[in-house]
This record gives sequence, structure tokens and C-alpha cells, in this order.
Amino acid sequence: MIDRSIRQHLSWFDTLKQHLLTTVLCVALPVCSVSASAENLTIGFSQIGSESGWRTSETESIKAEAERRGYNLKFSDAQQKQENQIKAVRSFIAQGVDGILLAPVVETGWDQVLKEAKRAHIPVVLVDRGVDANPDLYLTKVASDFREEGALAASWLAAKTNGKCNIVELQGTVGSSAAIDRKAGFDAVISNFPNMKIIRSQSGDFTRAGGKEVMESFLKAESNPKKDICALFSHNDDMALGAILAMKEAGIKPSKDILVVSIDGVPDIFKAMMDGESNATIELNPHLGAPAFDAILAYRAGKTVPKWIKANGPLYLPDTAAAEYNKRK
Ligand code: AHR
Repeated sequence: MIDRSIRQHLSWFDTLKQHLLTTVLCVALPVCSVSASAENLTIGFSQIGSESGWRTSETESIKAEAERRGYNLKFSDAQQKQENQIKAVRSFIAQGVDGILLAPVVETGWDQVLKEAKRAHIPVVLVDRGVDANPDLYLTKVASDFREEGALAASWLAAKTNGKCNIVELQGTVGSSAAIDRKAGFDAVISNFPNMKIIRSQSGDFTRAGGKEVMESFLKAESNPKKDICALFSHNDDMALGAILAMKEAGIKPSKDILVVSIDGVPDIFKAMMDGESNATIELNPHLGAPAFDAILAYRAGKTVPKWIKANGPLYLPDTAAAEYNKRK
């Protein structure tokens, strides 16, 4: 059973490689974009905040892509609050922007403002996270498949532990599609393994400080954490990095006493792998500006835009950590 499940999920490596060759290369390489258009667009971008290293890279990358194209980007940082995002989107509508990029902090509560944008004929592109609103209300979503990420992490862990592991889980922001779907994908795979169990699970809000604090409480709750906890599954790298610190302070060797698998592929997690303190990360591509802007151009040209433009990334292990770190630092 272990073999079948692992084979099934590790075959996603091939699927993910396929994504890389198609979508992700187009994300990364200007040559794939349709930015040849001379249109001088004004775009509103409602960003969640700057809770993680990945989020900061995404912001920088989208700003740089807008600049490269000569677009006027109106940027708004919501400081993790949905109400700020709704206000920002309304302000973009009032200013008559040509398109809106929205990174929605949570899944629910977007219907009304998306209807307002639609009524104003302003295309909205969801970047990185999804919403549970009617897909007719937005143009497209440029994002990875969070369920696949969670499943890939679980498949790797099942292979590494031969299907026997007590897991602690650091969840992302409550109500975010990233946290909901990563958990669902992970749970679905481990349900195939009777000896894999999540023994503790709590949100660290995608922050390093949150990950550290929650991991400290997980460690304190066990009489013998080294023995009782086999692995940490963290919904992002920043929380994992905070948890690694908590483990070290408690005299536990991260990646040896407790395995560490997380998601994002930020430079610091590759550094942690180089230092022998983390075992695996799944890359989340932060370069979402080019495909998002291209979708708006395609819409303006009257072309059909798919509802989901996927940008999945591969799982990395310590053997390539130094090379990956050097590419990103
Ligand atoms: O929505 C993606 C998640 O949000 C990233 O994994 C996390 O780092 C970020 O803050």
C-alpha cells in the first residue's frame, strides 16, 4: 500500500515538471509573455501584507514586472486584514483602473466587492490564493495547487518514514485557501497510512514568530518530544524556520530528532538544509506578475482566459540546497 501511494504521489513530480516546462517557464521567462503589447495599463494590486519571506518576494517580483512593462501599479498592503483589501479594491474601482490583482487573505466574503468590479467591467485576477466565490466574478486565478503541495509533502514523509510517523502540523492563516488546501492534500495522503497521525495541529499564521511560539507549545506538551514527535509539517518555510529555532533552544536536533518538511522554497530554508536543519521544501513560485498581466491583456484582446493558470513547483531535498540557495540569495 505504501508503495502504491508513494508511486501515485511521486508521479506528481512528473506532472510538476510538466507545469514547470509550460506555465512556470512562461512565468519566469519574459520571452513567453505577451508583454509585447504597447498598452500602458494602470493596475491595482491588493497584497495581503508581508508575513513571510515568500510574500515579500512575490510583492517585489510583481512590482518589478509592472515596471518592466511600464505599467502604473497602484499597490496597497492590507496588513493581513480583509476589510483593508475590500477598501483597496473599491478604491481601485473608483479610480477606474484597467485591472486588479487580488491576493485574498481568506477564502470567503468576496462576492460583493467582486460583483462591484464586474459591474465596472474591471477584470480581477486572483494571485496566489483562491476564493470560494462564483468563478464568473473574476477573470482567472494565477496560483499553484495547494492540495498537491500538501499531498507531495505527505508522500515524501510517508516514503521517508516507511509510513510510520507522529506528526505535528503548523497551519497557515486560518480561513486562507493556502492553509485549507495544504491541510486537505496532506490529510488525504496520510489517511492511506494507518501509522501516520497528526498528533497536534495549530495555526502559526504563516509567520516565523508564530511558528516558533506554536512549536514551543507542541514541544512542552510532550513528555519526551524527541521520541513522541517524528516530524513537523509546516504550511510554509517561515513557520518551519521559527520552529527550527524552538527545537534548537529545547536541545532537539531539527531534521534528525524531528524531520522538517515545509512549503515555499525561500532562501533561508535552503540555508537551513545546507546546515542540516531541514529535510525538504516544496517551491511556491513567487513570479506571478507576468501571467497575471498577460491574462488582463488577453481579456482586453477579447481572448478566452482559463479560470486557473497553475504555477506549481517541485520538492527540493538537501542534496541540491546549496545550488538552489545560490540561485536565490
Ligand atoms: O498563499 C501562499 C502562502 O502565503 C505562502 O506559502 C506563505 O509563505 C504566504 O505568506
